[in-house]
Amino acid sequence: MKVGYIQTSPVFGEKERNFNEVKKQSKNLKADLIVLPELFATGYTFTSKEEAVSLAEDLKSETAQFLIEMAKTTEAVLVAGFIEKARGSIYNSAMIASSEAVLGSYRKIHLYNKEKFWFSPGNKPLNVYKIKGVNIGIMICFDWIFPETARTLALLGADIIAHPANLVMPFCQKAMTIRCLENRVFAITSNRIGEEKRGDNHFKFTGRSQITSCDSEILSTAPTDENFVDIIDIDILKAKDKKLNKINDIFEDRRVEFYNAILKGGNYVNESK
Ligand code: ACM
Repeated sequence: MKVGYIQTSPVFGEKERNFNEVKKQSKNLKADLIVLPELFATGYTFTSKEEAVSLAEDLKSETAQFLIEMAKTTEAVLVAGFIEKARGSIYNSAMIASSEAVLGSYRKIHLYNKEKFWFSPGNKPLNVYKIKGVNIGIMICFDWIFPETARTLALLGADIIAHPANLVMPFCQKAMTIRCLENRVFAITSNRIGEEKRGDNHFKFTGRSQITSCDSEILSTAPTDENFVDIIDIDILKAKDKKLNKINDIFEDRRVEFYNAILKGGNYVNESK
């Protein structure tokens, strides 16, 4: 299976310019799955909820049409971040699109920093999309710090996690080697580069998009400060085998009855409060 990412440098609010940048980078590109960054068409650093609302879309509007067109020219399924509007709320979402249609969306469940001011937290269950026998799970950026996200996707059968991101901290790339190892899944973290200084926020995005194998190997790394595209071949069957050796199967060996905190809903008592 040919999978990859396009690492871009979006300009805030300039959807057409950002679509064109992706189009230029994807010239002559062919793959089975391509992941684009979180909020790749709009930028990230909002100064008000109204601003985010003004850039929001449903699953039929211009970002959807752009991704369907991209799917046609690349022959790939695309996963990409956008602002989703639905029933009077907006979400930091990712949509998955084939050459024929939008297949669905994932609404980020763990919002980072001021995202909590602009977006509603995701309200749909984590989901896996079966494409030509391969199960694709989706999570977005900061979801990486909650191991439950990748674990849930893996338990739902994900072979590969598509992970659009706008990373501003330096930890995720290393963490993804562990997320992939502990679940024996592949992951494609598609990050952006560049800086956004808007209102009282100044974010510098860290690049280093990464493809991680189910054995925790880093199969592809992008630079920190350049647009970059990579497509590699992976053997997805490896992710379907959860055996570490002849005796240990990382899913069958779980002792769920001992994971009491999780079974009880994980109600953590914060003694510092
Ligand atoms: C992030 O979740 N965009 C840091």
